[in-house]
Amino acid sequence: QLSQQPEIHKGLDGIIVATSKLSYIDGAQGKLYYYGYRIEDIAEHASFEEVAYLFWNGKLPTKSELEELKNMLKENRKLPQEVIDIMKKLPKNSHPMDVLKTAVAALTPFDPEIDDNSHEANYRKAIRLTAKFPTIVAAWHNIREGREPIDPNPNLDHAANFLYMMFGEEPDEFKARTMDVALILHAEHGMNASTFSCIVTASTLSDMYSAITSGVATLKGPLHGGANERALKMLKEIGDVSNVEKYIDEKLAKKERIMGFGHRVYKAYDPRARIFKSYVEKIAEMTGDEEARKLFEIARKVEEVMIAKLGHKGIFPNIDFYSGIVYNALGIPSDLFTPIFAIARVVGWTAHVLEYLQENRLVRPRQLYVGELDREFIPIDKR
Ligand code: CMC
Repeated sequence: QLSQQPEIHKGLDGIIVATSKLSYIDGAQGKLYYYGYRIEDIAEHASFEEVAYLFWNGKLPTKSELEELKNMLKENRKLPQEVIDIMKKLPKNSHPMDVLKTAVAALTPFDPEIDDNSHEANYRKAIRLTAKFPTIVAAWHNIREGREPIDPNPNLDHAANFLYMMFGEEPDEFKARTMDVALILHAEHGMNASTFSCIVTASTLSDMYSAITSGVATLKGPLHGGANERALKMLKEIGDVSNVEKYIDEKLAKKERIMGFGHRVYKAYDPRARIFKSYVEKIAEMTGDEEARKLFEIARKVEEVMIAKLGHKGIFPNIDFYSGIVYNALGIPSDLFTPIFAIARVVGWTAHVLEYLQENRLVRPRQLYVGELDREFIPIDKR
């Protein structure tokens, strides 16, 4: 037995496991940087494809570099028929994250470079995976409703094509840009649980698809990927702005959490939530969507009451608070909110794997053994 108890870092809280240039979260100031660029500038000026290029290459693309990446993404959108057939065999009530996990795993043997773990081959795998995630999610949306998947539209960019494959019609510019910004805001967020999962798998020199499958599996959990769905449900439950104060008071009195508030790293307003909020405002104004307007009114009041009550503890809206209203207004079912998170985050996951493998070290932590030693072994017929 150890005479001195080592310090145990439950949940690896506060442990730094790698260096990274991908993103920086200033939790005290409520700031987020993508490769050194402020998230506000990125969300205003860049496209999702530009952000992907930035994370994979460490610099913003020129026009021709961006065009080349967009074309590669377009060329790689289609799924092998075998993978679609596998999806069709899954129960129609499967959790969409389970379908995504299964489909990504099923894609593994179809990749032409699966055994090549070089940086260049892994870069191409990052493109192939990112290209296919929206196709999988939209295909499942249609398959589970008994419809055939809709083929990707090569005339549309990544976000617009996702909405097209979901609903079979080209989104207007505003909806396409809203989806684009939603993907940008979810693309990368440091060494979170799903990213760490990807790193653990990649560090064994497994393969990119296995690493990303681990990431999808980890994102599924409600402590990580799922609060947006529950935040929207809460706003719908509240029903009217006049019910907000009472609803919050009752929840807090029962020590229950208000979904879409608080964050392990941000102790100030999550900058992504601020950007989502501006989009909800635009959606309510521009589309004349009455439900979005009403949900926004309720959400604003929830925010006001929560900040008055808990702002002093560093509790503010997080990314999940306003995103659900945006997706709802785009007509997306709430169980696809986490898969959309994955459609965006696959860029961060693959970028981290590419970065980590440059100086790979097997991830292998230790544990404190607290069991017995030298027990007497009793053969089975004598127990
Ligand atoms: N509603 C009410 N009280 C809260 C909330 C909340 N949403 N979040 C934290 N608190 C209180 C908590 O009760 C505690 O109070 P006290 O000090 O009196 O015991 C204090 O704030 C600190 O809470 P904590 O649990 O120590 O904080 P944490 O850093 O471990 O938790 C969190 C972070 C995100 C798990 C938590 O804020 C939470 O459960 N939020 C609701 C779920 C949610 O919106 N999750 C999405 C996170 S953003 C998406 C992502 O990055 O994956």
